[in-house]
Amino acid sequence: MEGVGAVANVRREMLPIKTIYANTNLSRRTAILLSYAIFIISIINSVAIAGASGALGPHVLKGLIDTKFQVKILTRSKKPGEFDACPGVEVAEVDFTSVESLTAALKGIDAVVSTVAGTAIKYQTVLIDAAAAAGVKRFIPSEYGSVTTNPKLEKFPLYENVFMIRRHLQEKADAGLMSWTVLACGAFMESLLVPGAAGLLDFAERKALLLDEGDNRLSCNSLATSGKAIAAILKNTKATKNRVVKISEVILTPNQLLNMAQRMRPQDK
Ligand SMILES: NC(=O)c1ccc[n+]([C@@H]2O[C@H](COP(=O)([O-])OP(=O)(O)OC[C@H]3O[C@@H](n4cnc5c(N)ncnc54)[C@H](OP(=O)(O)O)[C@@H]3O)[C@@H](O)[C@H]2O)c1
Repeated sequence: MEGVGAVANVRREMLPIKTIYANTNLSRRTAILLSYAIFIISIINSVAIAGASGALGPHVLKGLIDTKFQVKILTRSKKPGEFDACPGVEVAEVDFTSVESLTAALKGIDAVVSTVAGTAIKYQTVLIDAAAAAGVKRFIPSEYGSVTTNPKLEKFPLYENVFMIRRHLQEKADAGLMSWTVLACGAFMESLLVPGAAGLLDFAERKALLLDEGDNRLSCNSLATSGKAIAAILKNTKATKNRVVKISEVILTPNQLLNMAQRMRPQDK
């Protein structure tokens, strides 16, 4: 049955023969062969990840390894013992400010996944330029929220870098150099439960942050699910080309979250 599924996947990802017929005067046999060749060229085998040592990065790394991609980690500097538990994974120390350094590291790589820190989002232009120069086919930028699904947010200073990166990627796509996918995963469930920018519950201080009246719905995903989604995107390049892919493991409101916390810890009410 696995073989049947694999054939069905190949058919879904192949360029429809009808499209080739309509645009060329090739024979049916040549059109099938051409469609298959285009499909083979678009397959992602090797993936580079930038930011693998962070909070989200290890989950994406696991998703990529579990899906049997050939993985290369790009890091500013490797700490002793780091990534030892990932046999077969290559680690390259790179200068994220140098197109030359990154282009050399990305030679032979099919896709780049960036999970760099929020503060480093704006510097991804260098990584994108290097990926295009190295012939990378797909780029997944560090964004991971819901920001660029709402054009009204483009004018918010807080979000100008993610929109700038989206425009930079679209320029590469328009030039036929590379395609992109943005994963919109809402809030990380783990982030909601720790104090900080996205944290809604602070168990230590017995505090909850209720946005507005606390009844607006939030789409949430665990870090692990987000990692698996990235691997799935790279297995389905046609369906995910130049678009935002939205995932949602659970939808809840801040009031529901507070309610659950109060049921778990009635003594802290
Ligand atoms: N939706 C949500 O709820 C939510 C919550 C948190 C974060 N996020 C987003 O998820 C993405 C990843 O966040 P994260 O918390 O996993 O990141 P992080 O842990 O703060 O950092 C990830 C990695 O980025 C790499 N990096 C490369 N260049 C850097 C630079 N100039 N400055 C700092 N780090 C640099 C570092 O790896 P090396 O040292 O190996 O180079 C670092 O370990 C970001 O886009 C962030 O905005 C979303």
